[in-house]
Amino acid sequence: MTAAAEIDVLIRAKYPILYLVSWEERRVEEQLGQLAKGLNRTLHTWTLTQGMKPPVTRTSGPAKPTTLPGELEALALIYEAAEFTVFLLKDFHPYMKDPRVIRLMRDLALRLRGRSQTLILLGPTLVLPTELEKDVTVVEFPLPTAKDIEETLDKCITAVKENPNVTTKMKPREKEIIIKSAQGLTLDEVESVFARSLVEKKKFDVEVVLEEKKQIVRKSGLLEYYPTQNKMTDVGGMELLKDWLEKRTDAFTDKAKKFGIPAPKGILLLGVQGCGKSLLAKAVAAEWALPMLKLDVGRIFGSLVGQSEENIRKAIRVAESVAPCILWADELEKGFAGVGGSGVSDSGTTARVFATFLTWMQEKTKPVFLVATANDVSALPPEMLRKGRFDEIFFVDLPDADERVQIFEIHLKKRGRDPKAYELQALAAATKGYSGAEIEQIVVGALYPAFDAGRELSQDDLLGEARAVVPLSVMMREEIDELRHWAAQRTRPASDRKGD
Ligand SMILES: Nc1ncnc2c1ncn2[C@@H]1O[C@H](COP(=O)(O)OP(=O)(O)O)[C@@H](O)[C@H]1O
Ligand SMILES: [Mg+2]
Repeated sequence: MTAAAEIDVLIRAKYPILYLVSWEERRVEEQLGQLAKGLNRTLHTWTLTQGMKPPVTRTSGPAKPTTLPGELEALALIYEAAEFTVFLLKDFHPYMKDPRVIRLMRDLALRLRGRSQTLILLGPTLVLPTELEKDVTVVEFPLPTAKDIEETLDKCITAVKENPNVTTKMKPREKEIIIKSAQGLTLDEVESVFARSLVEKKKFDVEVVLEEKKQIVRKSGLLEYYPTQNKMTDVGGMELLKDWLEKRTDAFTDKAKKFGIPAPKGILLLGVQGCGKSLLAKAVAAEWALPMLKLDVGRIFGSLVGQSEENIRKAIRVAESVAPCILWADELEKGFAGVGGSGVSDSGTTARVFATFLTWMQEKTKPVFLVATANDVSALPPEMLRKGRFDEIFFVDLPDADERVQIFEIHLKKRGRDPKAYELQALAAATKGYSGAEIEQIVVGALYPAFDAGRELSQDDLLGEARAVVPLSVMMREEIDELRHWAAQRTRPASDRKGD
């Protein structure tokens, strides 16, 4: 059901107060206008600056001038207005902190229930005081569809038809790509970006549209465009996980869809710190040639009460608007302190944010592939790990001997050394229980004595450094054993470790 159809039903069913979440005043107003007409109702629109338009006919007595502040007057007017009306209040949410406004709205909800009168709030964010939760029905007004965008594009083309300086001729395939790239923008943004493209490039250019999307991601402040610098070849080991990912490289294409393959949802990488979870997450984007957005988990959950819920919705919306894309949530457990009821009380906000996130993961239809990482499973709420959230939970263990060889190779090469000049097997044997990060540390650390003595990096430098580094796995032996035990029953291994 479209949002307009849903609103139509709600109005006819006499729901007293609706709250539409959208940036697009113009589009919403247009659609409400049509709806109201179809239902034979008068649509009144209110803003703080313009007041009520058209003016309201009161049921009792002549109009009397009031000295009430605008927002209270608006509610008073609605209270006294005749039936067969729809009231659209734009940007009303700032006033819903005032106890008088809240009280009046509750009274209104009672009065309007059963009357052919509907109050509609419209704003870009959802801010709803607890007192009103039961009286207000929230409707998410979705962004324009491909068809809406196509209409806008056609309008643009018609508008510049006579202009010899711009090219608007496109093959159907090109047109489809432009329309797809603009999905996730508001209709006003679509219009602006098409106009800008015509001015800058003299044609409809996908790059210009994508640049606009980067802006949106930046402005959201919750997500960050992450440049894809790491390739799969920068990651040592994890063969099973790499294999799994490789099989899904084309899973987001139309071809895969036609074949009956559902778009992958996401993976969770659990495991020992420093073993390349974050590194692998970054490599997925390059491997699949998709843009990657990093979700700032701390910022979403850490913000003011009430805002966090809106934040997570917004982050999801922005990510979906860039889809297909990879959404990277690093060290997921950090956001969830308190969900398990660990003494920290934030009046359930974290739990609600978390619930929103889980529901999205379960039901999401847009091609956003979530790559989450976590070091500490005990901090993750168990619901997160249930079937249906992630496609797969992978356990990233300490690298085995073969994997350590690969990791030495990668980091020696990265520092301009030929791995063949070293006995990698011996290095691997000397670094049992070391993580990838520690191996990198050994390679970097060994460069110093060699540089100091004015000679080339030697096998002994590396072995000496290996002895000097105490791996975390020694200090955290028990924790790692516990984690492995836990993971053995619940996760899939990232690598088929043959030996230590
Ligand atoms: N399997 C690996 N292959 C290559 N380098 C690795 C590997 N594991 C760790 N490293 C090195 O250690 C750094 C830190 O690892 P990171 O991905 O942050 O670990 P984690 O997220 O699991 O804690 C990486 O950027 C990389 O340079
Ligand atoms: Mg990490």
